[in-house]
Amino acid sequence: MRVLLLATPLIMLCISCSSAPSTPADELFLSRCSSCHGSELALKKKKTYDQWLDTIKRMENFGMEITGGERKAIARYLSEKQ
Ligand code: HEC
Repeated sequence: MRVLLLATPLIMLCISCSSAPSTPADELFLSRCSSCHGSELALKKKKTYDQWLDTIKRMENFGMEITGGERKAIARYLSEKQ
């Protein structure tokens, strides 16, 4: 228990330092897209905006919850990142 309490802030720090500077789009992407698989799975793929929209819709079939605005924001984020 004590180890967990100590480790949690360290893990949070590491997440924010590894991809600095962290933007709201980074946060949105990480919060939506790294629960079932790692975020690298998406970050290492090259897709266009429309292909990302399709991919995100597929993720919704797997049970992901996301609003229309967030879907577009993540598709734009990923297509511009590559
Ligand atoms: C509910 C669980 C879940 C969430 C949340 C999720 N995924 Fe996935 N994802 C999967 C599963 C399962 C697979 C493997 C099956 C497949 O590829 O169809 C996968 C595979 C992938 C792949 C590899 C296949 C491809 O199409 O290139 C990418 C990229 C991907 N996900 C991106 C994302 C992105 C971007 C998000 C956030 C918008 C996301 N995932 C959120 C379940 C999820």
